[in-house]
Amino acid sequence: MQSRREGGLAGELAEAVAALEAAGVDAPRHDAEALLAHVLDVSRSRLASGRELSAEQLERYRRLVERRAGREPLQHIVGSAPFRYVEVEVGPGVFVPRPETELLAGWAIDVLRDLPISARRSVVDLGTGSGAIALALATEVPEAAVHAVELDGEAFAYAQRNLTGTGVDLRHGDMAHAFADLDGTVDVVVSNPPYIPLDAYDAVQTEARDHDPAAALWSGADGLDAIREVERVAARLLRPGGWVGCEHADAQGESAPAVFSGSGRWSGVRDNLDLAGRLRFVTARRV
Ligand SMILES: C[S@@+](CC[C@H](N)C(=O)[O-])C[C@H]1O[C@@H](n2cnc3c(N)ncnc32)[C@H](O)[C@@H]1O
Repeated sequence: MQSRREGGLAGELAEAVAALEAAGVDAPRHDAEALLAHVLDVSRSRLASGRELSAEQLERYRRLVERRAGREPLQHIVGSAPFRYVEVEVGPGVFVPRPETELLAGWAIDVLRDLPISARRSVVDLGTGSGAIALALATEVPEAAVHAVELDGEAFAYAQRNLTGTGVDLRHGDMAHAFADLDGTVDVVVSNPPYIPLDAYDAVQTEARDHDPAAALWSGADGLDAIREVERVAARLLRPGGWVGCEHADAQGESAPAVFSGSGRWSGVRDNLDLAGRLRFVTARRV
């Protein structure tokens, strides 16, 4: 079978980068390398170690690059997404977890770890999607009781697969009525709910708009409908002194915290930055 040496591989990579750049992909070199690593079944860091590409692999690589140039999300093409120290299966029908949400999960992990070890620590992930946050919590705080809920049937099926064998208590349903059995007892509630205003359609990246489920993106005229629900549900679930952390759009750095401070059910309402320095998630403590 015909094969290409490293020089050919570098040329192929350069062509892929150029094609992705021309298509308006955000990080063309990263994605071209990630797709090549996927085809070769190696990590990106091992791409330079003198590998060859068979004719079949070359054809496959070109097909995948074409799909990515058509703005299909990289994670759908490779079938998984990294999230902190874990990897989750993703694809059509489920929201692709984003790097900015890793900080929200990290906040919840820190709060859980700081709690006294006398009681079993408990945490609820509202709108778990692929189960990324719940899986990170269960992996990094193994002694915690992790609960998660998802409304959408397709997303729930991904969460089921991603959380199999982890001990996470995963439920299918609306967060509004979820976990009535835990009312007033939970230590931490965490959520990355839908939060994009309906009229912001044109501002949303093609990959998200065309491939993330609508139920994971849009949330009423001001984008705050689901955040208002998270506020109500968290107030119901948390014990006095329990913590809530909820992600929002960078443009909601004032309006999302106001949902919490306006209800009179929270102390210490503050907003937190993501890695790019943008206001990204509100945290508060149940009075
Ligand atoms: C932005 S996605 C986040 C998914 C995941 N937590 C993450 O960070 O990758 C929001 C998720 O909330 C789910 N969702 C929306 N409304 C819900 C509700 N009322 N009850 C439960 N889940 C809901 C959506 O189906 C979607 O999977």
